[in-house]
Amino acid sequence: MQLRIILNNFPCPRFPMRLLPKLLLPAACALALAACQKESAPNVADTSSQTATAGELNLYTTREPGLIQPLLDAFTAETGIRVNTVFLKDGLMERLNAEGERSTADILMTVDTGNLLDVVEAGHAQPLKSEVLEAAIPAHLRGANGEWFALSLRDRVVYADKDMTLPEGLTYQDLAKPEYKGKLCIRSGQHPYNTSLIAAMIAHEGEAKTESWLRGVKANLARKPAGGDRDVARDILAGICDLGLANTYYVGRMKNAEAGSEQRQWGEAIQVVRPSFGDAGTHVNISGAVLAKHAPNRDNAVRLMEYLVSDAAQALYAKANYEYPVKAGVELDPVIAALGPLKVDGLPLTEVHKYRRTASELVDKVGFDQ
Ligand SMILES: [Fe+2]
Repeated sequence: MQLRIILNNFPCPRFPMRLLPKLLLPAACALALAACQKESAPNVADTSSQTATAGELNLYTTREPGLIQPLLDAFTAETGIRVNTVFLKDGLMERLNAEGERSTADILMTVDTGNLLDVVEAGHAQPLKSEVLEAAIPAHLRGANGEWFALSLRDRVVYADKDMTLPEGLTYQDLAKPEYKGKLCIRSGQHPYNTSLIAAMIAHEGEAKTESWLRGVKANLARKPAGGDRDVARDILAGICDLGLANTYYVGRMKNAEAGSEQRQWGEAIQVVRPSFGDAGTHVNISGAVLAKHAPNRDNAVRLMEYLVSDAAQALYAKANYEYPVKAGVELDPVIAALGPLKVDGLPLTEVHKYRRTASELVDKVGFDQ
């Protein structure tokens, strides 16, 4: 299935994909790759003229097709520009490294600040100056020179037992307090959602304070860090823990799940509180995009990136996956809207990204997952 999506959208216009029998898909994939390489390899300078057909663009993304396709369909309906999408589960960076200057990618779209900025730092992006993007996206959620742009926000919040009374102005720092001993649940400290939060804590508080905070949080755990974010809600319902850290969009999924389903029961067992770092707001991770370094269809790519911050597209992000729009004033799903406004930590994500490696090392140092 995944293979067929990739084949059907393979950005190699000269290859006659319709002639390929379905039973030969694996071999066909290899042939298609070979054909593309043959076309472009002998004359690198020619690549853009081979691929830059008017009215299309090539998107590489690690996002789920079910989430992204409605956005792309809406864009094509509005502009007539066809989007050839390569859906990748893993290996975006490896693919870009392998393709080098021959890459036909116009836009690279992924989740997680770390993944996105790794792509930028590896030289696979080009700066983009766009008044539309700059007007829609706050400065701390995009590259200073337009090398990357956040398109949606994924805030990391506290799930707590719905009957629990939590203090006003709860902070991430509070979770290390002794009063929460034996009450916390969380997934692995090494998961990007957590290393991103820990990196932000380092940026705010410094490494030494973050280490003792992490030790405090570990001392409060009700169980070993494991599972996913929804398991925090599951384990609150089961009485294993009282509170934990997880992303907000899972609340949208759980509370909107079929009535009576397991997920709906998990969602109904919890309340959601958005903590802060004290003075600063709530930590967010992002989904985002960059204009690819060698983008052969640059103008069309810019049109899609600008479309993705339109009110219509931002509302689709909010409705399809309960992510928080990066643009202000866009309608939210009622479950997310009920949580109140999101006050985003104003620290530039590039600052947070600097401490990702240190965050991961601290997780090991304190034996967080042991
Ligand atoms: Fe997730």
